[in-house]
Amino acid sequence: MTTLAETQPFLKRLFERLDLAPQPIGAETKHALDHWRTTRRGVAPTFADVVADLRHSGFAFRAVPEARDYEIVIGAKAVAPLLGDVAEGARLSEAPDRRGAVRLRRLFDEALRIGEPALVQFTLVENGRDRAGVELLAAPLALADGALGAVLGAMSIQRFETPAPARAAPPLGDETIIMFALGSSRALGERVARELGLALAPHEERRFEDDERKVRPLIGVRDKDVYVISSLDGEAGDSGADKLIRLLFFIGALRDAGAARVTAVAPYLSYARKDRRTKPLDPVATRYVAQLLEGVGAHRIVTIDAHNVAAFENAFRIESVALDAQALLARYLAHRLGAEPVAVVSPDLGGEKRAELFRQRLETLLARPVAKGFMDKHRSMGEISGEIFAGDVAGRAVVILDDLISSGGTMARAAHACRTHGATRIVLAATHGLFARDAETALRMAPIDEIVVTDTVAPREALAQRWRGRLVTLGVAALLAEAIARLHGGGSIDELLETGPKGAP
Ligand code: R5P
Repeated sequence: MTTLAETQPFLKRLFERLDLAPQPIGAETKHALDHWRTTRRGVAPTFADVVADLRHSGFAFRAVPEARDYEIVIGAKAVAPLLGDVAEGARLSEAPDRRGAVRLRRLFDEALRIGEPALVQFTLVENGRDRAGVELLAAPLALADGALGAVLGAMSIQRFETPAPARAAPPLGDETIIMFALGSSRALGERVARELGLALAPHEERRFEDDERKVRPLIGVRDKDVYVISSLDGEAGDSGADKLIRLLFFIGALRDAGAARVTAVAPYLSYARKDRRTKPLDPVATRYVAQLLEGVGAHRIVTIDAHNVAAFENAFRIESVALDAQALLARYLAHRLGAEPVAVVSPDLGGEKRAELFRQRLETLLARPVAKGFMDKHRSMGEISGEIFAGDVAGRAVVILDDLISSGGTMARAAHACRTHGATRIVLAATHGLFARDAETALRMAPIDEIVVTDTVAPREALAQRWRGRLVTLGVAALLAEAIARLHGGGSIDELLETGPKGAP
C-alpha cells in the first residue's frame, strides 16, 4: 500500500513512494526483507541476528538519539551510492552527500517510529539528470535490552542510462575521428564526446543580418571520419528548417575540406512524419530530406526512433542507422510502475506496432502481463479527430507511448480517453519532447501524472522548471556513443539494436 499521500510533506519531498507494507521488487531489498522476517523474534531481530547476512549486501546503522543522528555499523560500501565515501563508524551527519543522508535519516526515523519495515522509492539525480531508480528498505533492529535502536537497510538501484562500456582502447587520441555538435545539440554532443573520451571539435556558426547562416569547421578534417550531431527540431529562434540548412551546408563544407567520411547524426530527424502521400499531390518530405543530405555528400545518417523506420530506411541510398530509445524508456518505467497493474496504449493506429513491441519489452522487465490499448486518430487540415478507443485500462497505470510530443494534442486526447475508461494513473512516454507552442496548455488540461522523454532534443528548460517532478528527461548519450564507437571501429550495429548498449533489456 502506498501511504505517501497520507504522510508528512517532508517525506513527499524526499520520496516518490512510501510503502509501509513493503513488497520490494529489487533483489537486494527483497533479500533483506525476507531475512529480517525470518530472523524476527518478537518485535524485531537483533543486530546479531542479521550481521552475518549483512557481510554480503545491505547495511546497518545504530541510532544516536542524543545527536538525532545515526552511526554506520556495517555496510559502508553498500550505502556509498547514496552517501558518498563513508567509513564504518561515521555518522550520517558527516556523509558527503547531504541529500542522501537526509533521506536515510528520515526513513530510519520512520521505521523506528512504526516498529516495522518501510520501503521508499525515489529517483537518483546526478549532474541535473535522472540517472537511476532507487528502492530503499529500512527495517528496525532491537538492541540487547529489547528496545528498538538500530536499523537494517538495503538498496536496489536500477540505472536508466546504461553507461557506454569501458573501452580497452578508447578512441581518445585516435586522431582519425572528429566530432562536431551544432546549435542547441552542443550539450548532448558534449555528453556523447565525454562517453567516448573525446573533445568536441570547434566550429563557427554565424547569423547574418538577413538571417542567412554560415557554419564552418575550425580545424582541418582532411581524411578524417567526421560525425556531426544536430537534432533538427524547431525551437524558439531556430526553426527546424534553419537547422536542416545549417547541417547541409556544414556537411558540404566538410566534404569540400577533404573529410574522408561524414556521418550526420540527427537524434531527432525532422520532416519524417510526411513519409507517404495521403492526399493528391502530397509531398514525400522524408525522401527529399534524404536526397538533400545525399546531395551535399553525407555518407551515413544516424537517428533515434525514426517516425517510420521502414520509410526512413527506404528514403536513403546511403547507410541509414535507426537506433531506438525504447530500452531506456522501458527500464525507467519498470522502476516507476512497481507492482501496479499496467497497460500500454498507442495514441494512434500508426503507432500500434511500436506500442506493442514496447508492451512486450515492459512485460519481460516486469515479469507479469501488461495489457494493451489504442486510440483512433485522424488529422486533417491540422484538426485531430477520431473517438474510438479499445483496450483494457480500467484500474491500471497506463503508459501512453508515442515517438514524439509536439502540440501535445495527440497525447492529451489519449490521456482523456484513458481516464474515461478507468485508468488510475497516466504516464506519457515519448522519445522526442518537442513541446511546440501550446503544448503546455493542452497537456496541463489533460489527466497526466508524469511525462517521460529523452534528450534527443535539447530539454525545454523553462518548461522543465514549471513541470518539475512531473517531467523526466532520460539521456541518450551512452546509446549514441556506443553506436558511433561501433560505426567508427567496425563493430556491429545490428547487435547494438538487438541488445541495446551493454545488454540492456
Ligand atoms: C504522428 O503520427 C506522431 O506519431 C505523433 O503522434 C504526432 O506527431 C504528435 O503530434 P502532436 O503532439 O502535435 O499531437
